[in-house]
Amino acid sequence: MSLYEQNFHQTDISNDSFLVTGGAGFIGSNIVEYLVHHGAGEVRIMDNLCEGKFENIANFVDLPNVRFMELDITNESDCKAACENIDYVTHQAALGSVPRSIEVPLVTHAANVTGFLNVITAAKDAGAKRFVYASSSSVYGDSPVMPKVESQIGSLLSPYAATKYTNEIYASVFGQCYGLETVGLRYFNVFGPRQKPDGPYAAVIPLFMDALLKNQAPFINGDGEQSRDFTFVANAVQANIRGMLTTHSEASSKAYNVAFGERATVNQLFQTLKRLTGATTDPEYREPRAGDVQHSLADISRAKEFLDYQPTTSFEDGLDVTLAWFKKRYG
Ligand SMILES: NC(=O)c1ccc[n+]([C@@H]2O[C@H](COP(=O)([O-])OP(=O)(O)OC[C@H]3O[C@@H](n4cnc5c(N)ncnc54)[C@H](O)[C@@H]3O)[C@@H](O)[C@H]2O)c1
Repeated sequence: MSLYEQNFHQTDISNDSFLVTGGAGFIGSNIVEYLVHHGAGEVRIMDNLCEGKFENIANFVDLPNVRFMELDITNESDCKAACENIDYVTHQAALGSVPRSIEVPLVTHAANVTGFLNVITAAKDAGAKRFVYASSSSVYGDSPVMPKVESQIGSLLSPYAATKYTNEIYASVFGQCYGLETVGLRYFNVFGPRQKPDGPYAAVIPLFMDALLKNQAPFINGDGEQSRDFTFVANAVQANIRGMLTTHSEASSKAYNVAFGERATVNQLFQTLKRLTGATTDPEYREPRAGDVQHSLADISRAKEFLDYQPTTSFEDGLDVTLAWFKKRYG
């Protein structure tokens, strides 16, 4: 059974074409799964596999309506080819990770800003009906406002946050100058099946799951009392589908918080996973990480109002599903 039995769209999509950039990555491959499961006319996956994995899409690529394009968003003509005659684009390709962006800001900029500009330009030139893109809760920077509302951001704390905020500025300008309909999604710590536990920039939930399934002690940066609005991937997929297909006349040219709307501390996350895995180990605490915000919690009322977004999977239910997937995959 798919995670995506539930319908997040009302219209018939059997004649529509969709481009998912970063479609071999974690969130992108989940969007692909939804579109395939619900009979989209054509699904194009654009990914250069620098972070994504072919195995994430191996079950889909042989279907007649799915096309994998191993192309690079930093290349203008690759983006043109991927967008030819496209109806809807959801742009997920980017280099994630705040620490990476602090180490190699130029590399992050090339993918996240130049790549973004290439894809949005190609989508506009192809006459795409809507361009949805991944922004990030990192744009809230040092704002003390809780919960985070879209209109109030602080000073940015990392090059990664700067790239995502730049995306929002470009999206707004493309609406002004060219009438392109855009929807920005500020994801809050998304987790779920297909998220990588390996590599230097892995996120906290797959890292903890991987360690605890081996009964090893994971690291916690700082005292673990930092909190996050952990968001199960099916909720992020829902926001993408609704963002592309909404008929709400005022939905475009906005950025939206995409989250569950509750928060847990990293220590609480650890204890929950320790219980669920039956591990007996304790974490090792180390220095806090540069660029990290202390607390994060989203107000999701804007997405509810304009996108009809209703997150369906809670933090704990999402952890159960994710852990089951990890046990099968890595356990
Ligand atoms: N996962 C989260 O919690 C989170 C939070 C906030 C924002 N985001 C954003 O959501 C999007 C998806 O994130 P994810 O967690 O699925 O990450 P991911 O790394 O799994 O997916 C990103 C995909 O983009 C591809 N990619 C990167 N550079 C590329 C290039 N030059 N050309 C073509 N493809 C390229 C990678 O190979 C990868 O498959 C990203 O834009 C990320 O910044 C994610």
